[in-house]
Amino acid sequence: MQIAIDGPASAGKSTVAKLVAKQLNYVYCDTGAMYRCVTLLVLRRGVAPDDAAAVTALLKDVKISFKPSADGQLVFLNGEDVSLTIRQEDVTNNASAVAAIPAVRTALTDQQRAIADAGNIVMDGRDIGTTVLPHAELKVFMVASVEERARRRFLDNQEKGIDVPVETLEKEIAARDHKDSTRKTSPLKQAADAVLLDTTSLSIEEVVAKIVSLYQERRNIA
Ligand code: DC
Repeated sequence: MQIAIDGPASAGKSTVAKLVAKQLNYVYCDTGAMYRCVTLLVLRRGVAPDDAAAVTALLKDVKISFKPSADGQLVFLNGEDVSLTIRQEDVTNNASAVAAIPAVRTALTDQQRAIADAGNIVMDGRDIGTTVLPHAELKVFMVASVEERARRRFLDNQEKGIDVPVETLEKEIAARDHKDSTRKTSPLKQAADAVLLDTTSLSIEEVVAKIVSLYQERRNIA
């Protein structure tokens, strides 16, 4: 069975998707991490993130792999553990430009489908329910207010020792929402058959329980 979890930046998708996968014993795939890996290589090579031709030429040098770990998953770029590096602000703020390039999306979508073919999967991103896995048995579109998402990012950052004011985070999140929703190829958009889940006033545990219960409903119908 395939579970697709989409939604805007910092809605808590990865945290929730990871826990759902653990509870159901499913494979978890964080597609945002894959766009972040490409972005990291783009920045390291000094390529402009919106230079479609140069970024496309670099795709042949990108090899991404995942390895399960105690608290979820490690992400490797060409054999190097980049799990933490891909969360840095410069990667975060340039990923939307890289993710808007059609050749990047095609290459990563192919890899994501191959990962899903291997068995039961929970995949999170922006276009999983609409493009990557249009036949997923359960699709969830997770949203939360910009203020709440900025607050969550702020708390996350504090744990990591990153100091960015909450007002800046609000602006960055709104800018990413805009870029992700208005790009031409596979924009962020709720699939017609996705369940809308507003997590603004829900705890992580409540969101996980809700998704697991939707999953059980679907299984009983199937
Ligand atoms: O979910 P995230 O913040 O890790 O995603 C990083 C970037 O990748 C973000 O700008 C949106 C983009 N992305 C995408 O375009 N499609 C996906 N399936 C996942 C992420």
